[in-house]
Amino acid sequence: MTRFLVCPPDYFGIEYEINPWMRISNASDPQRSAQQWHALMRQLEAVGAKLERMEPVKGLPDLVFTANAGFVANGIAVPSRFRHPERQREEEHFTRWFIQHGFRVITLDPTMYFEGAGDLLGFPDLWFGGYRQRSDIRAYTVLTDIFHQEILPLELVDSHFYHLDTCFCPLSGGELLYYPPAFDNYAQTVINDRVPSHRRWTVPRAEAVRFACNAVCVDRHVVLPAGCPQTMEWLTAHGYEPHPVELDEFMKAGGAAKCLTLALD
Ligand code: ARG
Repeated sequence: MTRFLVCPPDYFGIEYEINPWMRISNASDPQRSAQQWHALMRQLEAVGAKLERMEPVKGLPDLVFTANAGFVANGIAVPSRFRHPERQREEEHFTRWFIQHGFRVITLDPTMYFEGAGDLLGFPDLWFGGYRQRSDIRAYTVLTDIFHQEILPLELVDSHFYHLDTCFCPLSGGELLYYPPAFDNYAQTVINDRVPSHRRWTVPRAEAVRFACNAVCVDRHVVLPAGCPQTMEWLTAHGYEPHPVELDEFMKAGGAAKCLTLALD
């Protein structure tokens, strides 16, 4: 069973602007965000996920985006080192959660920016690390040593797709949803070399900006933001069951389904 770390949106809000989606003047509606978050949780449980809820913390509006808590594999947790001071205050809370829940915590040098599962994701034996917008490419050398796993760095060139999980979504059967213009040419070549073309779905721009790639895949189920009909059609044609969830309140912060979860095993 897939276990996810999640954090209720009690203190979620748009209190600063650290990506192009965020505008303080475009406030989120607390009631709607709570409804959308709970609907996402119900959908994840319905497809068989087990949820671990952490305590929200007042004054940390982005703590809901637990994908950025760190990266977890084989019982080891590497907590994030956030690029923006606004989010650095989250680090101690995520680190404490990992320690209290029995993970072996390995910390990175504070100057080595790394934003966790928001930037490090992949297939069981093929990991990719997004860099330049948030995480540093240097982090992947250290993470390769920690996890004994090759990590292919992918340069992100569009500030709207600042984390790898905003434009790249590996699926359980080996397929990939992605948005090529978010990557530099070399990264596109690496992806083309490693993932056969019949397994790649190029998400149209209109759906990429609806966070189609910010989806959570549990077995053959894909929980994705609402408003991505072409991606849903492709998923269905390839043997997946898409489950759309309205998440526009969280898109005001630059996140959707995947950002709101952290896979723990
Ligand atoms: N406002 C948050 C930030 O800019 C959103 C994080 C979304 N998380 C993600 N894994 N893409 O850091």
